[in-house]
Amino acid sequence: MKIGIIVFSRTGNTLSVAEKLKEELGAKGHDPELLRVIPARDDLKAKPPMEFKSAPTVDGYDVLLFGSPVWGFQLSTVMQAYLEQLPPLEGKKVGCFVTHMFPFAWLGGNSTIKQFKQICETKGGKVLATGIVNWSSKGREKDIAITVEKLSNIIGT
Ligand SMILES: Cc1cc2nc3c(=O)[nH]c(=O)nc-3n(C[C@H](O)[C@H](O)[C@H](O)COP(=O)(O)O)c2cc1C
Repeated sequence: MKIGIIVFSRTGNTLSVAEKLKEELGAKGHDPELLRVIPARDDLKAKPPMEFKSAPTVDGYDVLLFGSPVWGFQLSTVMQAYLEQLPPLEGKKVGCFVTHMFPFAWLGGNSTIKQFKQICETKGGKVLATGIVNWSSKGREKDIAITVEKLSNIIGT
């Protein structure tokens, strides 16, 4: 089973969760690849369509685990633009997670993960798990542990 962890991370938070996910999957005997979405320019106001320095292909993966920060109560425009240019995700198992900074999930995390899931499902992916990590919370490590567990449990479902 080929697993791709594909993340956009501007300041490293989302990437660090992805690294823990990779580690956990490795400990479970899998060999996931961690790939980064990198826009051509670091422009917070850029809108899709967007140019990329790195836009990983999803060909050949059975499982795709996507991660992104919340920007302005929404999925980061970079992840939105990346997903938009992907081919259909039919037949793939999908997990998605977000990291965010504001103190409550209802300040962006919940609606963003709903949006993330919807975009992946519209592309034909089967979304089996989601996760939200509140970076400013005392419960951050717990959020990360739950997210890693939920997403890594997709394999084998
Ligand atoms: C342009 C911009 C908009 C943001 N908007 C939100 C927001 O609406 N809600 C929130 O909780 N955090 C918001 N944040 C904080 C990021 O979601 C948070 O710091 C995230 O963990 C960053 O992930 P990264 O280090 O992987 O880039 C915003 C950050 C940026 C740069």
